[in-house]
Amino acid sequence: MKIFIDTANIERIKEINSWGILDGVTTNPSLVAKEGMDLRTCVKQISEIVDGPISAEAMSMKAEDMVKEGRELAAIHENINVKLPMCIESLKATKKLSEEGIKVNMTLIFSSQQALLAAKAGAAFVSPFVGRLDDIGQDGTDLLVQIMDVFENYDFDTEVIAASIRHPIHVYAAAAIGCDIATIPYDILTKMVSHPKTDEGIAKFIEDYKKSKK
Ligand code: G3P
Repeated sequence: MKIFIDTANIERIKEINSWGILDGVTTNPSLVAKEGMDLRTCVKQISEIVDGPISAEAMSMKAEDMVKEGRELAAIHENINVKLPMCIESLKATKKLSEEGIKVNMTLIFSSQQALLAAKAGAAFVSPFVGRLDDIGQDGTDLLVQIMDVFENYDFDTEVIAASIRHPIHVYAAAAIGCDIATIPYDILTKMVSHPKTDEGIAKFIEDYKKSKK
């Protein structure tokens, strides 16, 4: 499974990139606003750090405008893909952009039917939001299973990004289900590294090593 980081924070992207495990980056308007940056500056900086797909969200509401905005975003760097929110206008824009060779990440996916339509329109990625389904009392990981089941029947090139990841168990679920990608916030990535028994084991080895040197 490919690992993307879900943030617009440049320092955090640099840090996780240094671990050697990072395959790409997703941003959204809320994450960019949190950093007090303008989207174009932000994704340009990210493209200088990470060699992999970077999602930048277009904010237009009409297909024609989405296509124009998408072209502008994609022109910033060859790794930039255009994030569009699931709706009819986005489907139309996805068809056009994908025909031009510009990759689209269809976001805010909450059903397998939405994912199917996005794939049919030519989306390179679909982003089902796991945590936001959990928030309303549905099991978000069920949606990952449904989308992977549907996609397995066909030859779509669309990759499934498990998004809205809230804890390490979501990451395990995405990997066990076979999602192509999980986009993971910084805090969850750091939690994935740690285990109390690992920390305890390291401390004991250091202690014993010091003793053996005496
Ligand atoms: O990638 C989508 C993600 O940013 C949404 O996460 O935690 O706001 O539901 P969240």
